[in-house]
This record gives sequence, C-alpha cells and structure tokens, in this order.
Amino acid sequence: MNFKNILIDIEDSTKIITINRPSKLNALNSSTIKELSRALKDAEENNKIKTIILTGAGEKAFVAGADISEFAKFSIEEGKALSQKGHDELFNRIDKMKTPVIAAVNGFALGGGLELALSSHIRIFSENARVGLPETSLGVIPGYGGTQRLAQIAGKGRAMEMILSAKMINAKTALNYGITNSVVPLPDLMGTAKKTANKISENSPMAIASAIQCINANYTSGVDGFSFEINAFGASFGTSDFKEGTTAFIEKRKANF
Ligand code: COA
Repeated sequence: MNFKNILIDIEDSTKIITINRPSKLNALNSSTIKELSRALKDAEENNKIKTIILTGAGEKAFVAGADISEFAKFSIEEGKALSQKGHDELFNRIDKMKTPVIAAVNGFALGGGLELALSSHIRIFSENARVGLPETSLGVIPGYGGTQRLAQIAGKGRAMEMILSAKMINAKTALNYGITNSVVPLPDLMGTAKKTANKISENSPMAIASAIQCINANYTSGVDGFSFEINAFGASFGTSDFKEGTTAFIEKRKANF
C-alpha cells in the first residue's frame, strides 16, 4: 500500500509513523485512518519491530482532530458507522497492540488527536502541546473512545470537566492530570520518545505483549484482571523469552530476545 497521508521511518527496531497533513493540522480523514491502521498491522506482523512511535508532521500539531469537513453533513447512521469503524480500525487496534505504541505529541492534540494519544500505551508531550476534547463545542461528543479512555486515565472528574467545557489544557496541566507521562522541550521530543522506545526494546517482546493484555484486562468488562494476570503469569513460564531471560541472568550476560 502506498501511503499519501503518513510517513514511515524505521530506526533500529522502532517504527516511526508521522501523520503528514500539516496544511490541515494533520486532521484525521478516513484515508489517514485507513493508512494508520495498515501501517500498524504491518508493524505487528514484523517481528523485527519492537516499538512504534506515532507523531505529527510540523511543529504545530500532532493531530487537530477528526476531519470536520468529512463528517459535517453526516446522518445518524453515518455518524455511528464513522465511530464504529474508527474504534475497530484504529483506536481499539492501538490499545490492543502487542507492540507498544508511544505517542510523541508535538502541538495540538484535539478530539480524535487526543483520542489517538489516549489509545497509545505511553504519551510524551512537547512543552507546546495543547490538548482537549472540544467535540461538545461542535454539537457532538468524542466518538473515538475519548469518553472512556480520558476518564480511565485522568479520572472521571477531570474527564467531565474537559469534555463538558470543551476547553484545551496545556502540557503542564496534562502532566498534572496524568494524561502525559512526561513533558519535554519540542526539540527533545523525538529523542526522548526514541530513548523510551530503546529502553522498552531491551525487554522480552512476549512478556511486554502479555503485560499490555493484563493491564487492559482491568478495563475490559466481564474480565477479572487478577485471574487474567495469574493465567498470563503462568503462561510466561512456557515461553522461549522466559528461558532466554532467566538463562542470561544466571550466565551473567544480557538477554538476547
Ligand atoms: N478538521 C478539518 N480541518 C481542520 C481541522 C479539523 N479538525 N483542524 C484544523 N483544520 C484545518 C483548518 O480548516 C485550516 O484549513 P484551511 O487553511 O484550508 O482553512 C487549517 O487546518 C489550519 O487551521 P486553522 O484553524 O487556520 O489554524 P489556527 O492556528 O487558527 O487554529 C486550531 C488551530 C487547532 C485551534 C483550529 O484549527 C481548530 O479549532 N481546529 C478544530 C479542532 C477541533 O474541534 N477538533 C475536534 C474535531 S471533532
């Protein structure tokens, strides 16, 4: 698949995906969602890729939201289908990825942009990041998981405040709210994201995939996270990564996963 709206770079075992529609502040139209979904699927199927970084082109925006011009005249059915497709193709896919996804947020992350970052496993913001879920100002609600994931990550009260007021918050407040793991100057953003990716890449991909599933189990209706963890912990004893990790420790060498 030839990509028109995203750029792909591979550095060591990290796939860097840059959303590249700077003239529209990297707004997510349907073809960008499709391309992102495909690029993530490709990464998951490539066992040389151990981490993924998502970022936006330019210095102004990560993603300024879903492309408003695309859905402005949608009917109820079309609106529901847009949301369902987004959940299935992209936002839930990221959340459930076995390969960790780091969002390097380099400016505005609004609506679908913040939802994209919230679906990612780790978020790093540049100091100029401004984020929010402004959908209620447009007469809609967040439809790519924002009502759920913002409450899970920042707490119900803060999600209520941000969604009902439609306000933007700066990087410092986002850090205070637990929405981002860290805030760095813009020139250091990609370096910090790559350093985080490299640190993760040293560890067992099998254990990482299992840990992501276990953490997500707590947020999955009808699943007991503790039971899920007990089973997953047991299963890890049967993996080649467990054998390599423990053997390397005993042999006083670095594990080669
Ligand atoms: N969908 C479609 N186009 C968008 C967009 C979006 N979510 N966000 C920005 N753009 C486009 C603008 O229409 C403009 O295109 P044009 O030059 O062809 O007119 C271009 O990106 C630049 O945006 P502009 O508004 O001129 O930049 P700004 O610096 O004045 O304002 C924002 C920046 C982010 C505050 C403003 O673009 C904005 O409010 N965007 C919408 C945010 C939003 O509501 N997102 C949630 C969508 S559900």
